[in-house]
Amino acid sequence: MFKSFIRHTSTKPFYVTTPIFYVNASPHLGHLYSMLLADVRSRWHKLDPNHQAFLTTGTDEHGLKIQNVAEKQGIPPKQLVDMVSTNFKTLASKLNINYDRFIRTTDSDHIAAVTHFWNIMIQKDLVYKGQHSGWYSVSDETFYPDSHIEEVERDGKKVMISSETKNEVFHHTETNYFFRLAQFKDQLVSFLEANPDWIMPSGKYQELLTELRSEPLSDLSVSRPSSRLKWGIAVPGDDSQNMYVWFDALVNYVTSCGFPDTFELKNGQYQSRGSNPWPATHVIGKDIIRFHCIYWPIFLMAAGVELPKQVLVHSHWLSEGFKMSKSLGNVVDPMATCDYYGEDSLRFFLMEHSSISSDSNYSEKYFNFTRDNLIGKYANIVTRCGGASFNIEQAVVDNNNGCFADIDEFIRSNSLNKDKVEMIITLKNQLLDKLTSLPAIMDESMQRFENRKAIQEWWSVLELTNSFLQQSEPWVYNKPLKEDPSNEKLRLVQSYGILLACESVRICSILISPVIPTLSGKLLDRLGVDAGERNTDYLVPFERISYGKYANGKHELPIQRLPKRQ
Ligand code: MSP
Repeated sequence: MFKSFIRHTSTKPFYVTTPIFYVNASPHLGHLYSMLLADVRSRWHKLDPNHQAFLTTGTDEHGLKIQNVAEKQGIPPKQLVDMVSTNFKTLASKLNINYDRFIRTTDSDHIAAVTHFWNIMIQKDLVYKGQHSGWYSVSDETFYPDSHIEEVERDGKKVMISSETKNEVFHHTETNYFFRLAQFKDQLVSFLEANPDWIMPSGKYQELLTELRSEPLSDLSVSRPSSRLKWGIAVPGDDSQNMYVWFDALVNYVTSCGFPDTFELKNGQYQSRGSNPWPATHVIGKDIIRFHCIYWPIFLMAAGVELPKQVLVHSHWLSEGFKMSKSLGNVVDPMATCDYYGEDSLRFFLMEHSSISSDSNYSEKYFNFTRDNLIGKYANIVTRCGGASFNIEQAVVDNNNGCFADIDEFIRSNSLNKDKVEMIITLKNQLLDKLTSLPAIMDESMQRFENRKAIQEWWSVLELTNSFLQQSEPWVYNKPLKEDPSNEKLRLVQSYGILLACESVRICSILISPVIPTLSGKLLDRLGVDAGERNTDYLVPFERISYGKYANGKHELPIQRLPKRQ
């Protein structure tokens, strides 16, 4: 059924990462988005009970920015990062981000891994000491080449800024260690040419390749004088220098899977052993593509480590049409939003209303509308079919006893809706066809992180389900059945209608569980679907089903409508 059955034959877990977040600010919607894309993808993979996944997220804790904030607050940097890192952990747990490792760059295994990584570069003579002069941005913690800066006027003063981030840059000279980035340029270009799907979406791949081909690549400064950057990992054997924060941060992706111990060194190449999930699929925002698609693959090539499987570059979230900024007062706080609306509504909204390649817009109005749809067009199907006058458990038994074998003829002869019986049969067949093909169609999109597309398909099945219920009206059988409870034919027509709707909602709930694990779980609980039967082995309608116990009758609503926040 799932293409992934064929595609992933290895026993290695599917490894997906989020960027590690700077701890100098509170978590915002964009951070959550990176986390969610990775979480949904990893949960999707694990829907197949034969598959495993490994998801990492965490915090990027060294660097000048942290040092400056700690100095301002008059506390040691470690105290600051301990505090702020917790906010990101809280965000992850509130939003049900199912990570396997929360990595902090102050973790001792990470410091050991980075130090090892550095030493490999030294052994290979890929790092040398030199003078560095250039345009440096404190907030981006990076030097920019002349071609990436521009002069602008700010507050009546002429200042130099980075063309990419618009942050101010200063001319600065210092002694640094340099990494021989330039000598790997051709190797990287050849690799990218041979692997056009390595960066997704393809627009980002093209942009990066064009830039790489047309511009020279200079060596990269990978350390800072420890007199200026005090809060960083020390350069082994030279305490006058601390490592550049990006060199430190990128290595997190291999620390999390046990580098170097879980790799085997053969002919200068580090090969991941056994269940070590490397290589990873990296989820990143568009602002950090250069670090992940130029520096990181080159560092890995240089060290002799296999390159990541893929880099997924996502666009950004705007709020009510504008870039989120404190001064505009439009920053969306994911924690407060989640506290009010619940984690699943927020997860669903972010997945339904975003596209990887263009910026997305948070709007409270759309959000409320989406949430109401979830209630009215999804959860409500279970509430309707779970009414006291129907019997889902009996419908499942009827199905398993073969009562629905020649169902079209049976409906034709026994439906109470004689005037529209053909339309009902057509709707039923459309629904069955769509439901049967839904897993493979969603799989195709979900594997490519095209959640919106997958969700559109999912909605189209639920819309058909609602139309089918609306037209076939299983409730019109209640009265005649009350008068003549022995009318088995009428009971079976009603039973089939209810079961088809329940099958749709059961399969849709399994398929949407990576996006809304709690709500889909509640609906499956309500239907009485066994926890072990919520996976890709149970996606064929009317097959291998055994549910319905206690499904009919009074139950608490799984999700309630809420007024829009003011
Ligand atoms: N610490 C670095 C990453 C190091 S990874 C080895 C960093 N941190 S960050 O906290 O600034 O950003 C983390 C992620 O959040 C990035 O992928 C970034 O693109 C994403 N977002 C930040 N603002 C965003 C939006 N407004 N919308 C969507 N994502 C955005 O960069």
